[in-house]
Amino acid sequence: MLEIGHDVLTARQFDRSDLIRLADVASRLEPIARGEKVCRVLEGAVMANLFFEPSTRTRISFGTAFARLGGSGLDTTGLAMTSLVKGESLADTARVISGYADVIVVRHPTPEAAKIIAGGALVPVINGGDGEAEHPTQALTDFYTISRELKALGKEIDGSTIVILGDLRYGRTTHSLIALMSVFENITFQLVSPEALSMPDAYSDIARERGHRVNVFRTLEEGLAGADVIYATRYQSERFQIDPSVREAAERLRLDATAFRAHAPEDAVILHPLPRDEVFGELGTDLDRLPNLAVFRQTDNGVPIRMALFATILGVADTFEQWVTEPAWPLRRRSANP
Ligand code: CP
Repeated sequence: MLEIGHDVLTARQFDRSDLIRLADVASRLEPIARGEKVCRVLEGAVMANLFFEPSTRTRISFGTAFARLGGSGLDTTGLAMTSLVKGESLADTARVISGYADVIVVRHPTPEAAKIIAGGALVPVINGGDGEAEHPTQALTDFYTISRELKALGKEIDGSTIVILGDLRYGRTTHSLIALMSVFENITFQLVSPEALSMPDAYSDIARERGHRVNVFRTLEEGLAGADVIYATRYQSERFQIDPSVREAAERLRLDATAFRAHAPEDAVILHPLPRDEVFGELGTDLDRLPNLAVFRQTDNGVPIRMALFATILGVADTFEQWVTEPAWPLRRRSANP
């Protein structure tokens, strides 16, 4: 169970009650996340955002989440601009940053790097993505989005069919997603990928061991049938050399509006952790016209769920409402497409 002072290193650490509580805190934080209310509950607190791999959503949404709660963020981006290139260990770096910040968020190309940093840190550490292994806070964002999208359709997560499509071998968000969603009941997971990019057993076995159905498919026709949620992912070309036969198989698994209409139920929710690769086109931009495409609601949800995480591990989940005031500045956001 997630408690004050805990690290967040893997999706496997969460149970069902954690998710229900985080979703409840996140929904109460929504007006603050959108800037409609102001909250200073973390005034004086400092977050260190250590990103040793490229990021747009994770790094900025963590920074926004902390700032919306009244805290301040410090960023370092890229290995080259840190003393790691001078031979400093991750453990020493973690101990040093613990003297400067109250919580550390880290993204690193090496699996287990977040665990090593947590071993050296004196403050909570959150894994913002560790190589090809895991991305637990993306999975929290995905869970929060799935629960809201299904609820809007009168459905529940328990008993649903979740399709996970694309690069399931190197796509760390898919590993965290299957682990996290396995805390629910009676899920059918449909894993659709080129054979060479199948999900490692270490992750799919989490679902099997909890009694869920895990079916593997190589075509959209079979793989999208019966879907409540379709979770597409990018081919992680920064982590492997995509050979021609894998590329051909991946091309046959591109999800665009034509493929969606041909093979998926008409109310299926489409998610993707983003970024999507617009050149390769694993998630066609022609889907943007469909209300099924929830990817930008998904990115928006990254802020309140990360705020809920900070509120929980820094011990203000039950008290933040006492610190809420009206903003002194007018909101200028334009309304979004569906
Ligand atoms: N989804 C995700 O992790 O995006 P970034 O790489 O932009 O953080």
